[in-house]
Amino acid sequence: MQPVGIGLVGAGAFGVFCLDAFAVMREVRITAVADVDAGRTRSLADKYRAAAYDSLDMLLADTAVEVVALNTPPYLHAAQGLAALAAGKHLFNEKPLALTLEDGAALIQKADTHSRHLTVDYVMRWNPYWQAAAKLARDGVLGALRHMDLMNHAAGLDLPNDHWFWDKSKSGGIWIEHGVHFFDAFNWVAGTPGQITASQSFARADGATDRVEALARFGDAAAHFYHAFDKNGQTEQTTVTLTFEHGYVTLREWVPTSIELLTTVEPDALHSYLPGQMAEPERIGAQQHRLFAFAPEGKAAVYRASIQAGIRDLARAVRDPSHRLAVTGLDGLESLRLAVQAENT
Ligand SMILES: NC(=O)c1ccc[n+]([C@@H]2O[C@H](COP(=O)([O-])OP(=O)(O)OC[C@H]3O[C@@H](n4cnc5c(N)ncnc54)[C@H](O)[C@@H]3O)[C@@H](O)[C@H]2O)c1
Repeated sequence: MQPVGIGLVGAGAFGVFCLDAFAVMREVRITAVADVDAGRTRSLADKYRAAAYDSLDMLLADTAVEVVALNTPPYLHAAQGLAALAAGKHLFNEKPLALTLEDGAALIQKADTHSRHLTVDYVMRWNPYWQAAAKLARDGVLGALRHMDLMNHAAGLDLPNDHWFWDKSKSGGIWIEHGVHFFDAFNWVAGTPGQITASQSFARADGATDRVEALARFGDAAAHFYHAFDKNGQTEQTTVTLTFEHGYVTLREWVPTSIELLTTVEPDALHSYLPGQMAEPERIGAQQHRLFAFAPEGKAAVYRASIQAGIRDLARAVRDPSHRLAVTGLDGLESLRLAVQAENT
């Protein structure tokens, strides 16, 4: 397959991580980088032997760019994404799809009108431990899904007070900027759209909302989401617990690198679901088994592989008209709908 030309717009913290992930892939080629910071654009373009542009319009005029990887802050996604699609580019949109449902729907409409592909970089969809959890739920091996719980204690203290994240007009707030990842993941695991039933938020002394919480239902499964951006890189932790009729599945870290099952189901029926390196199953009491599998390569490698899998899927759709994207604009819109609901309930 001829490598697909990528133009990355917004070479900030995450953009640089994505460039590094794209650079070693054979399915894509970094052809251009654009950022309002001309110095950074130039040095990254030099590093990856790509064209450097200080405006989106110039990057969009470059015919070698087939896919725009949009890594700018969320408030720019709608306008820049619409411009990219109108210029005939496919779109690898960072989350969130947009800040409003109207803008999200307009992006999907624009992609349809111009017959372009649009996907959202929902890395959990490509994380092997989330994939294992989703497959366990889909196959029903642990019985019915009863409850999904997210406890996300994130490193908000590492973000300066003037970072765009804290400005709702730029980020959309915690639900829209970050919560969408987990709304999408829970939609996918449950296999049915969710509804928010209650929510609350908490502000710190300077008025910035740093903690949000919601209850939801996904069909017959209950769900709870808690995001607190009040820890730092040393003290952050994320835990997702999925409760089934016949056991519990736990994913740890916001990019999970392990999966733990505590279940009454016999281990032999479960081995094939567990990715990575597996510990010897343990008997816990008279009825339960503990199974544990983890990624010895660590978080950065797992994260990077998930980003690569997302862009690979898009590159494949660009080259092969019969290929269907795993994550569509509608997935981006559905998770945004829940985020807006959580914001307004
Ligand atoms: N999928 C994930 O796992 C994941 C992880 C982190 C961040 N993100 C998303 O990535 C996006 C970027 O986040 P970040 O942390 O890298 O932010 P950042 O502030 O570090 O980087 C944003 C970059 O965009 C540039 N920029 C601003 N306005 C621009 C414009 N008009 N045209 C071109 N460039 C412009 C800035 O100069 C900066 O370099 C956000 O949407 C965020 O939600 C996704």
